[in-house]
Amino acid sequence: VSPAHAAGRGGGPLVIAHRGASAYAPENTLAAVDKAAELGTAWVENDVQRTRDGELVVLHDDNLRRTTDVEEVYPGRAPWKVKDFTAAEITRLDAGSWFGPAFADARVPTLEQFVHRVERHHQKLLLEIKNPELYPGIERQTLKVLGNEGWLDRSHVTGRLIVQSFSADSVRTVHELKPAVKTGLLGTPPVSALPLYAGFADQINPSYGSLSTAYVSSVQAFTGPHGRPLQVLTWTVDDAARARRVAGYGVDGIITNKPDVVREAVGG
Ligand code: G3P
Ligand code: CA
Repeated sequence: VSPAHAAGRGGGPLVIAHRGASAYAPENTLAAVDKAAELGTAWVENDVQRTRDGELVVLHDDNLRRTTDVEEVYPGRAPWKVKDFTAAEITRLDAGSWFGPAFADARVPTLEQFVHRVERHHQKLLLEIKNPELYPGIERQTLKVLGNEGWLDRSHVTGRLIVQSFSADSVRTVHELKPAVKTGLLGTPPVSALPLYAGFADQINPSYGSLSTAYVSSVQAFTGPHGRPLQVLTWTVDDAARARRVAGYGVDGIITNKPDVVREAVGG
């Protein structure tokens, strides 16, 4: 086990519940956070977007169709984009039945509700700013909500919060607005681009399919904005053999829908 793995509970890489423990409960809902906690998962990942009236909500897709009953409740509102609905309208939706009848009460949570639940379980948060090009100013707004909830206090900023995005501009904006917050850039940028990204990202977080030992060590050879080696969190790994393989590449964390399986496999 490399020293980079020291942060994982059992000495392995960090294990992060992707959209909550989303193999066992509907993604990005409070039920998925609860499930992650039940499985002893320290870190939860989520996706943040914005409603028409400016509320931050937790949802992966830019429209509500796949994970809610929006088509039934608002049949005339195609294409059912998150940004075209108010928070009050979204709250009416059933965000759990698509996953299973036991979850019919699940709702699309606001970021505030999601953060409260993570806090209640003493978990840590890997927050993804999704589609920032659709939501100008979402970085500042996300930090404001986190700040209001006490998540930018010293103890949280140093060990309990990472803000990531596929958008390098968004990651850079978060870093510039609040340099103490740890940040991650999603994707697999070429090694030649890392000197630039290491100026504002503490992590490079690639899909497992694009990984190799050489790439992971190249990333970790750079120093991030907080003076530490860049870290690598990979996604989305749900089976034991694959988890062991990426752990062997030396990744610092594994983002998974099945945190129990990955933890069992790699001891994170
Ligand atoms: O956290 C990594 C992963 O969530 C990025 O992909 O599409 O699941 O948001 P996606
Ligand atoms: Ca995500």
